[in-house]
Amino acid sequence: MKTLEKLTLAGLRQIDPETAHKLGLKAVQMGLSRSRRTFSTPRIKTQIAGLSLPNPIGLAAGFDKNAEALRGLSRSGFGFLEVGAATPYAQEGNPRPRLYRLPQDRGVINRFGFNNQGMEEINKRLKWRPRDTILGLNLGANKESADRSADFARVLAYCGENLDFATVNVSSPNTEKLRELQGKAALTSLLQGVLEARDTIHRPIPVFLKIAPDLNEGEIGDIAEIALDLRLDGIVATNTTLERENLISEHKSQSGGLSGAPLFEKSTRILAKLSELTTAQIPLIGVGGVASAQDAYDKICAGASAVQLYTALIYHGLSLVEDIARGLDQFLARDGFDTISQAIGCKRDHWL
Ligand SMILES: Cc1cc2nc3c(=O)[nH]c(=O)nc-3n(C[C@H](O)[C@H](O)[C@H](O)COP(=O)(O)O)c2cc1C
Repeated sequence: MKTLEKLTLAGLRQIDPETAHKLGLKAVQMGLSRSRRTFSTPRIKTQIAGLSLPNPIGLAAGFDKNAEALRGLSRSGFGFLEVGAATPYAQEGNPRPRLYRLPQDRGVINRFGFNNQGMEEINKRLKWRPRDTILGLNLGANKESADRSADFARVLAYCGENLDFATVNVSSPNTEKLRELQGKAALTSLLQGVLEARDTIHRPIPVFLKIAPDLNEGEIGDIAEIALDLRLDGIVATNTTLERENLISEHKSQSGGLSGAPLFEKSTRILAKLSELTTAQIPLIGVGGVASAQDAYDKICAGASAVQLYTALIYHGLSLVEDIARGLDQFLARDGFDTISQAIGCKRDHWL
């Protein structure tokens, strides 16, 4: 981390976390953050669901909920970006405060509740998106919607022409009963609707499913079965957790979803289980607590084709992205892998 970045992050940590995030995002939007070439080598260049990624390090959903900083983010070193969640209509989300730092645990608790400007506003920005970046949208549902499962298809149909991929997010813990849509019957019909919407897009795009880390073995088995049956293009594992274990920070008992380092092991175990159950037929994106090249490498060895991160950016800044990409390249070289695909799942059993 450079001195200026260190000072900026230290300053931002003195103010309310949501305000700090807004300021940080504004700086990226205005081009005030350092512009970085996306680090890539033949070893870390990869393909996932037909998308060519210069490196497998992605921005996780929720960082840029309204797609406001696409240009700046496309110059931050990521191999791919996921913005949103977008819902059909704008909504405020839960009352503030709704974001808490857990510095001693290197984690964060949030209970935003899909605050976003709605698909129409977001799509205006997606139209002007940088074309040299792989860009996806996280699809959500309105809290007051009469038919939440139809909301996902609606957002995809509306924004799909401007996307490279979309992620169905039925795993946010901050919209009451949303996670119930992960049940077998509900999820199958929801996804069928989304896939039908995808097929109406001029240039059909991959559709991923993002799951919660708080699923039991039976539920993970159902998800794997549905994903194989419907030929989903990928699974993003995982969203934030409702579990609280071994935390020491002041705000450890706040309600909401926990992310960052405390989520790493749990989300990696789910990833490995999914990799086993889908017999590596479906690309998996590993998310949850990635804060170093070692973490990214661990997720890949557990079964991920690519990774995403959010919380670690709050503690380490955007320079972390290039550090992870470079470090990952070195780990792969050290262990004799010429490509990422050779390493995927090589230590899966360790996490089962
Ligand atoms: C403040 C905040 C907002 C988030 N918003 C979303 C969201 O809108 N949609 C979603 O799928 N995940 C959302 N997430 C979850 C992240 O995308 C990611 O799955 C999770 O934080 C674990 O990764 P991390 O430990 O690298 O943060 C959010 C996370 C945080 C911390």
